[in-house]
Amino acid sequence: MAIELLECPVFDWTYGLMMWSSYLSVILALPLAFAHYHDGHGSPSHWKPPGPGDFRGPCPMMNTLANHGFLPHDGKNLTEKTVVQALKSALNFNTSLGSLMFEMAIVANPEPNATFFTLDHLNRHNVLEHDASLSRSDAYFGNNHIFNRTIFDETRAYWTDPILTPNMLANSKLARQINSRASNPQYTFTSKTEAFSIGEVSAPIVAFGNMDSGLVNRTLVEYFFENERLPTDLGWKKKQEVISLDDIVKLSQMITQATSLLTAKEGLVVRNRDLHAGFSFAHQHS
Ligand code: HEM
Ligand SMILES: *[C@@H]1O[C@H](CO)[C@@H](O)[C@H](O)[C@H]1NC(C)=O
Ligand SMILES: *[C@@H]1O[C@H](CO)[C@@H](O)[C@H](O)[C@H]1NC(C)=O
Ligand SMILES: *[C@@H]1O[C@H](CO)[C@@H](O)[C@H](O)[C@H]1NC(C)=O
Ligand SMILES: *[C@@H]1O[C@H](CO)[C@@H](O)[C@H](O)[C@H]1NC(C)=O
Ligand SMILES: *[C@@H]1O[C@H](CO)[C@@H](O)[C@H](O)[C@H]1NC(C)=O
Ligand SMILES: [Mg+2]
Repeated sequence: MAIELLECPVFDWTYGLMMWSSYLSVILALPLAFAHYHDGHGSPSHWKPPGPGDFRGPCPMMNTLANHGFLPHDGKNLTEKTVVQALKSALNFNTSLGSLMFEMAIVANPEPNATFFTLDHLNRHNVLEHDASLSRSDAYFGNNHIFNRTIFDETRAYWTDPILTPNMLANSKLARQINSRASNPQYTFTSKTEAFSIGEVSAPIVAFGNMDSGLVNRTLVEYFFENERLPTDLGWKKKQEVISLDDIVKLSQMITQATSLLTAKEGLVVRNRDLHAGFSFAHQHS
């Protein structure tokens, strides 16, 4: 009897919970369905090109994240919160890495003590934007932030295999620099630029490639540059492992090594008493 009395309320309670949970899933699904169309809740499958009045810049990835709605689609009001969240949810960047990148980028906004930047701010020449980009023209020749087919073809000439190696990426960077230096009387490339440039050249590996080998599928990289879109339709998925500063540093070292025009040490026996070593030693002391 006592059991019977208990059974009904228990059943009702369970049934009620079942009913409630099915309503709940509908209620929860609604904002998720609409979330695609709200800033900061981007999705790898939802993509919309910029419209009139939307800001875009020289960074193919920041543009891409805005096109997917991970960043505000208008390319404005990029706060630390927004940028960290976007890099986390689109690319699985460690939040402290995201914060660091934001701190490095905030100089793009010319206002003192700025708390946000816009994609348009990134176009300011020789602040973060620099000469010899892989897919953009030097500011001296015109638009420094829109994708430029001629320039990107120069870069791609060095991407000679369906799987890009660190050397191919490095070759394209070096070629762009030589071409710029030879043709642009205002060519500027400081050691700070070099550090940024190395990071940018490694970026396709970070997003789409193998962090250990430095190899990356050329089709995905070209699709990304050309469409400013995540290569989801080509089967790409965000990395499962969190990407941290350590990974970026490791990859930067790999690309730095690849940009050296010297061949591997094994090919050349250098001893202290070699004629040339002695020669340079003598120079230092004369
Ligand atoms: C706070 C985040 C970021 C900011 C503010 C930023 C800013 C910039 C800027 C100003 C440039 C232009 C440099 C030039 O003149 O070429 C650039 C280039 C580039 N960025 Fe970003 N970036 C960010 C994050 C990323 C991420 C996460 C990736 C990919 C994993 C990425 C990929 C690239 C690539 C590949 C380039 C080279 C484009 C070219 O040479 O044509 N960026 N970025
Ligand atoms: C900018 O974004 C922050 C959140 O990151 C928000 O609190 C603020 O209201 C936004 N400002 C404008 C002008 O949209
Ligand atoms: C993020 O990076 C920081 C510093 O490199 C590290 O202490 C932290 O454990 C990382 N977090 C995750 C989730 O990987
Ligand atoms: C910016 O911040 C510094 C240090 O907090 C402060 O001294 C300065 O007055 C601020 N400038 C403006 C324009 O708010
Ligand atoms: C692309 O870059 C080249 C070389 O800098 C330049 O001459 C050309 O005008 C650029 N094209 C566009 C559409 O900006
Ligand atoms: C590169 O990715 C494309 C698109 O997913 C795929 O069709 C192709 O087989 C890949 N190439 C290599 C060499 O793995
Ligand atoms: Mg540039």
